Amino acid sequence: MKIYANLKANLTRKSTKEYFETLNKNAENTTHEILVFPSSSSLQEKTYKNLKQGVQNFYPVENGSYTGEIALEQIHEFKIQDILIGHSERRMLLFENYDLIIKKFNFAKENDLNICFCIGESLAIRQKGEIKLKDFLNSQLDGIDLDYKKLSIAYEPVWAIGTGIVADENDIKQVLSFLKQKTNAPLLYGGSVNKSNIKSISKIKHCSGVLIGSASWKVEKFLDLIKEVS
Ligand code: PGA
Repeated sequence: MKIYANLKANLTRKSTKEYFETLNKNAENTTHEILVFPSSSSLQEKTYKNLKQGVQNFYPVENGSYTGEIALEQIHEFKIQDILIGHSERRMLLFENYDLIIKKFNFAKENDLNICFCIGESLAIRQKGEIKLKDFLNSQLDGIDLDYKKLSIAYEPVWAIGTGIVADENDIKQVLSFLKQKTNAPLLYGGSVNKSNIKSISKIKHCSGVLIGSASWKVEKFLDLIKEVS
């Protein structure tokens, strides 16, 4: 199972290093795919055998005049192969639009990176019913190569992110089944995944993993979640 931790803008360089060391020591023999997305300033130089790190964000260029961004050159320096694209916080708080997201996707694909592509609807859209929901998810996938071999898709309803409200299992199942008709890419769920729901979420049809935010920020808590599904 894919168990991804999105640390967002949490932890310092020092505490991220401790996080990786503790995680590595305690999840050494895991059969799960553990991938951690630290903040860009906390990327780890050391590499671990059973523990990968990815970037939460990048600008789709080799390098250049893009103040505040990191680019391929910096990603390669850390031997990083995995990136997040389309997270709702970047879409909504950082105003990442469709054009930029497509540019990022195509650039990452050209450079053979593993892409975890995030999609998910707002509560207003969900309340409009199934057709509107599917239209919206289709629009977020429009222009994305769904046959790209290194793609995984994280379904993360916006209203479930960081709110403690987890989507109903049937709702998750319905969306994952819909996505499965469109792609063979592994599908993840994200949005208030925690110790008490990770096991049942992992058993949902077509669910290949989880993208975890707040419940992953303390390494002991994250390890508890891994244990729940081990
Ligand atoms: P959450 O965040 O687990 O805190 O809801 C998930 C995410 O943003 O990927």
